[in-house]
Amino acid sequence: MPNINDVKCMLIIGSTSGLGRALALSILDLPSKPTVIVCGRRQERLDELVSSHGADGRLRAVKLDVNTDRQTLKAAIDDIIRTYPDLDAVMFSSGVQCGSDFSKPETIDLDGFLTEIHTNYTSVLMMITFFLPHLISLGESGLPTFLYTISSGLAIMPSPSVANYSAAKAAIHSLSMALNVQLKEKNVHVVEILPPLVESELHDGQGTTEKLSKVWMPLTEFTKLTMEQLITDAAQISIGMVAHLYQQHEAGRMEATNKFFEFQKAQINQ
Ligand SMILES: NC(=O)c1ccc[n+]([C@@H]2O[C@H](COP(=O)([O-])OP(=O)(O)OC[C@H]3O[C@@H](n4cnc5c(N)ncnc54)[C@H](OP(=O)(O)O)[C@@H]3O)[C@@H](O)[C@H]2O)c1
Repeated sequence: MPNINDVKCMLIIGSTSGLGRALALSILDLPSKPTVIVCGRRQERLDELVSSHGADGRLRAVKLDVNTDRQTLKAAIDDIIRTYPDLDAVMFSSGVQCGSDFSKPETIDLDGFLTEIHTNYTSVLMMITFFLPHLISLGESGLPTFLYTISSGLAIMPSPSVANYSAAKAAIHSLSMALNVQLKEKNVHVVEILPPLVESELHDGQGTTEKLSKVWMPLTEFTKLTMEQLITDAAQISIGMVAHLYQQHEAGRMEATNKFFEFQKAQINQ
């Protein structure tokens, strides 16, 4: 199966910090010399990335807030495709996280939860849908194309303190498996990354960064382990302690999803 070494032009949505930023710089360093487009809301972070790493013109930047309506998002994606017609890979690393305590329902911020669901799941679903005609067209012309999603170990084992976040990540996990099976024949390859707790800015808003920093995986270690697997043909990449969770609860589910899809098609065609 094709892998990240085949990528020629990759957009990484949510790469102004954390996992997306670190992976963007590692992908930029691949011997295959792809173009990497970094993306996020913070213009000063995008500028810093381009001025520090963009000397040879392969690091580009696009400002985008994914927390917006369907029409605005579609117009932004169409614009990206027009500007980068050789775009053959998109990674979705944009994410936010809200804490929750449902034993105190009066503290639940439903507006915050809707933003969390949209940023972490429905905007990704929409963007994938908007990118697919372009990716399928390239794929059918013989060039492999790629969608990289980032779920979490919490997609497998929910954390009650971030219940809505865990549910959105479970949705990304399920969607990634279904898309993997359905898009294979179109030469669009779907790869899901399932990180453990990793050093980033994700928890800054909840004030838990200092506590979590005592137990999280350093970003450099996460990036190294992920890049090692991105050059294989793995469709699901589970890192650190998530690899154990994955073996316990998820091993074989992708194959089962494949078989289920074949069974459904056979039933329909009977
Ligand atoms: N760190 C962990 O422990 C961990 C574990 C499992 C999974 N993950 C997942 O990994 C991904 C990256 O998170 P991270 O940990 O690296 O956190 P991070 O450092 O906070 O990075 C999040 C990225 O998402 C972008 N983003 C957030 N809201 C956005 C919006 N509305 N529009 C566009 N971009 C937006 C941010 O950029 P701007 O603020 O510039 O827009 C930033 O680049 C997320 O999907 C997260 O759920 C993280």
